[in-house]
Amino acid sequence: MTDVLDGVRDHYAATGLTGRLKTALSAFGPEGQRLTPQQLAALDQFHTRGIAATAELARLAGVSAEMSVLDVGSGVGGPARFLASTCGCRVTGVDLSAPFVEAARYLTARTGLSERVSFETASAFELPFDAGRFDVAWLQHVAMNIPDRARLYREIRRVLKVGGRFATYDVVLGGGEPLYPVPWARTSATSFLLSAAATREAVEAAGFRTLVSQDDSEAAKAWVAQLRASGPPPSPNLGVVMGPDFAQLSANLGRNLLEGRLGILTAVFEAAPTAT
Ligand SMILES: C[S@@+](CC[C@H](N)C(=O)[O-])C[C@H]1O[C@@H](n2cnc3c(N)ncnc32)[C@H](O)[C@@H]1O
Repeated sequence: MTDVLDGVRDHYAATGLTGRLKTALSAFGPEGQRLTPQQLAALDQFHTRGIAATAELARLAGVSAEMSVLDVGSGVGGPARFLASTCGCRVTGVDLSAPFVEAARYLTARTGLSERVSFETASAFELPFDAGRFDVAWLQHVAMNIPDRARLYREIRRVLKVGGRFATYDVVLGGGEPLYPVPWARTSATSFLLSAAATREAVEAAGFRTLVSQDDSEAAKAWVAQLRASGPPPSPNLGVVMGPDFAQLSANLGRNLLEGRLGILTAVFEAAPTAT
C-alpha cells in the first residue's frame, strides 16, 4: 500500500506548481486582483466535463448553504471553490499531494474564498476528522487511484453524519483494457478501476444506500468529441498543473471513452446508520 501511495504522490508531484500558476495567471491581471472560480475552470476542475460535471453533481446531491462538505482528493481545489461560491457552504478539501494543497490554498486566496474553503494534506484512507463531522462527502475522479475501495468508502462513511450524502463522479471500467498513460496514472501500476456495478456494490457494503446512479459515459463522449473539434481550452489550462505531456494523457482518456474501454459513473448515496 505504501508503494502505491508513493507512486500516486509521484504522479501528482507537480514541482513548482504554485510558481507556475502565479506566472500563468498573470494573463488575467495583477497578483492582487480577485479571480472568479469560473475564470479558473480550465485549470482547476480536474475531471471529464469540467465545471459542468461539478455543477450537475452539486444539484443531484442537493448541496446547500448550511452544509459542511468534505472534498476527498480535492486536487487544486476547483470543485471546493465552486461549491462554496455557488451553494454558499463550507468546504474542507484533503489531498495526498502537498504541492496540490499549496496550490489550492493559493488559488482560494486569489478568489477571496479562504474563510469558507480550506485544505489539508492527508490520505483518503486516514481522514483527519472525527466521526460524523460532515453533511456531504465529495469524490470526483479520485477512486481510480485507490487500490482498497472498501477502506476508502468505510473511511468516507465514518466521517459522515447518518443521513449525510456521498456524491461521487468517477471513471469506471467499460468494455476493454484502458490505454495508458491517462491523466491519473502514467502506467497501470497506480490505476485501480472498477466497473460501475462493482463501485456501487463496494459503496453500499460500506454502509450506504443508493439514491442516484447515472451512466454519464455518453455525455463524456460528447464532451471529448467537442474538445477534438474545438481544440484544447485556451491557456492557462490543466497543462500548467500536470506538465507538457498532459495533452497526450488527456487524448488517451478521450480515446478510452470513445472506444468504450472506460465509462463515467455519477452517483449519490445516503449514509445509513452503522451497526453498533
Ligand atoms: C484527477 S485529480 C482530481 C482532483 C479533483 N477531485 C478534481 O476533480 O478537480 C485526483 C486527485 O486525487 C488525489 N488522490 C489520489 N489518491 C489519493 C489518496 N489516497 N488520498 C488523497 N488524495 C488522493 C490526487 O493527489 C489528485 O489530486
